[in-house]
Amino acid sequence: MIKGKHDEYPTLSEILQAFNSLFNKVENFLNSKQGFFFIFSAKKTEGSRGPYYDCTLGDSKKRVEAKVWISEPGLLEPRPGYIALADYLYDEKFGISLKIKKNFSIEEMEAYSAGSTAQLLPIIPDIEKVKAEVSEMIETVENAFLRKLLERLIGNNGSCGEFFEAPAAKVYHHALIGGLAKHSLNVAKYALAIYEISPSKDSIDRNLIVAASLLHDLGKMKTYSRDDYSFDYTDIGQLEDHIAIGVRLIDREIGAIDGFPELLASELLHIVLSHHGELQFGSPVAPKTREALIIHHCDNLDAKLDHFDSLVSGTPSGDLWTEFSRMFQGRLYTGNLRTDKDS
Ligand SMILES: [Fe+2]
Ligand SMILES: [Fe+2]
Repeated sequence: MIKGKHDEYPTLSEILQAFNSLFNKVENFLNSKQGFFFIFSAKKTEGSRGPYYDCTLGDSKKRVEAKVWISEPGLLEPRPGYIALADYLYDEKFGISLKIKKNFSIEEMEAYSAGSTAQLLPIIPDIEKVKAEVSEMIETVENAFLRKLLERLIGNNGSCGEFFEAPAAKVYHHALIGGLAKHSLNVAKYALAIYEISPSKDSIDRNLIVAASLLHDLGKMKTYSRDDYSFDYTDIGQLEDHIAIGVRLIDREIGAIDGFPELLASELLHIVLSHHGELQFGSPVAPKTREALIIHHCDNLDAKLDHFDSLVSGTPSGDLWTEFSRMFQGRLYTGNLRTDKDS
């Protein structure tokens, strides 16, 4: 909830979670209050009863397609990059629609309610912690060439500061400012956990696991634009996509490090190239080393678990099943209603 001077207002996730399908429709549902919505994009459309806007709106956890009505007197047009205070209507079939009463810039919103933008904007809450953890992880790399490469790219004074600002995807997972660094760190943690328990531990290179986990999606920092948090493809993102961009960035830096072993470079680049696992999913080569296999599966797992969480966060709190997911080709079980007695 966003705390105002005299009142509290729900965000999109709270409205969706509070929805009860028994009543089928929700209008200013939470305590009859208006809600706050971040407007990601807005496109004016001519309808049979006058113009309206097709928008993408949301909060820090969720974004959805919605209609914004403007044909009544006193209603404001949506402004991408702004936060709308609006009456809202949610219904299961048609989704959410708004009537905007006031638009706040991000600065105005923060001045109105300190800390509110953390609930409204897609930004990871703990980027400084992520940065510190990435630095600590880099320090554990014993191979001097790989450690130097990591420091030069994503260390404290590394050349890739955007690594800590970029999202990890447009929509599906970690679609947040800082999401790329968070996802890469997660992959490193999963991969290290598997390394630790693997019967093949002695045949797995821990240094490669850390370096490749942290760098596998590096190209994403150039793949998505961050204007108004829309996370659209950049021109270079469209033309090359993140695997090719990442390989280019990493290889260029390798070339600047005297004596970087050629085979080590190939093993690292192989993991970046193969992390999507199959040619049909964008990898030009399938995983051919233990490290590459581990990182491919950890990457997939972290992306899927994050998408799972975002689906659950938009599910009404009483519902056992999420909405249909294209990634999972089905609805997911939330287990919300399970009690100790049942389990
Ligand atoms: Fe990727
Ligand atoms: Fe990834």
